[in-house]
Amino acid sequence: MEARWEHAFITGASSGIGEAMARALPPATRLLLHGRDAARLGGVAEKLARQGRAVAVVAADLATEAGRQAAVGASRSCPIDLLVCNAGFGALGPHLQNDPTAETDMVAVNCMATVAISRALLPDMLARARASGRRCGMIVVASVAGFAPLPYFATYAATKAFDLFFAEALAEELRDDPIDVLALCPGVTATRFFERTGNAEAARRLMAGGHGHSAARVARDALAALGRQRVLVVGAGNRLATLVPRLAPRRLWSAMAGVAMNRWRR
Ligand SMILES: NC(=O)c1ccc[n+]([C@@H]2O[C@H](COP(=O)([O-])OP(=O)(O)OC[C@H]3O[C@@H](n4cnc5c(N)ncnc54)[C@H](OP(=O)(O)O)[C@@H]3O)[C@@H](O)[C@H]2O)c1
Repeated sequence: MEARWEHAFITGASSGIGEAMARALPPATRLLLHGRDAARLGGVAEKLARQGRAVAVVAADLATEAGRQAAVGASRSCPIDLLVCNAGFGALGPHLQNDPTAETDMVAVNCMATVAISRALLPDMLARARASGRRCGMIVVASVAGFAPLPYFATYAATKAFDLFFAEALAEELRDDPIDVLALCPGVTATRFFERTGNAEAARRLMAGGHGHSAARVARDALAALGRQRVLVVGAGNRLATLVPRLAPRRLWSAMAGVAMNRWRR
């Protein structure tokens, strides 16, 4: 791949899609990787450094204001030209039974951190892009879950709708600026995501049935799509699946999705 990006900042790069994104970037791209778990993040960075990559890390909990500021502070010390807002997590189950702290942390990590980091970094990224005559880039990791309400994944789906609409709106606001913005919408992807939501087994079954993708595929497709389109739904099956909620009446969709999600989460 052409070394289009000189300095990438990826949040949530201690595993999954973020880590795959780091690996998928050209070897010449310098990496600033963020994660919450410092040991795991250090392990990822060490492996990449052994392959000759220039890697720096910042460990911070993006659910907290201090953590978001730490991530912004670290990234300000590098001339970032590719920002990947990827850190995120979900919690399956009825909103009223889910851990209340996890529900609000989800909004902080999946939404607030994306807004805070992009608001802090984009002005300098754009100024550098204008000065150098090169384009910069931003990928916001949303989800196929962001296209419609999802009972029993209510907060998560709403955060991903936020990410999707935020990225699409930014792409339009910045249409005349030297930046490419992509809302990345993966479907089920083989990462630790579903281990953390508590239904790894259901996700494994979907993967085994050929209904999921590897994190490497998601990362590769995203980097290829950046600059070509504003929204990428990964995989033909997922593209079809996201059409249904856009065409069906919202109330009917919510009822159907509620039955399916209630069954799937068990
Ligand atoms: N896997 C899927 O099926 C799927 C589908 C659609 C969209 N997505 C989205 O893809 C993104 C990446 O998820 P993934 O699938 O790669 O899952 P993952 O392997 O669990 O990775 C999630 C990343 O987010 C970080 N993170 C979680 N909570 C955090 C917090 N409070 N503060 C800072 N970092 C935090 C994790 O850091 P630590 O490990 O250090 O805690 C990790 O690096 C998420 O935004 C997710 O919503 C995933």
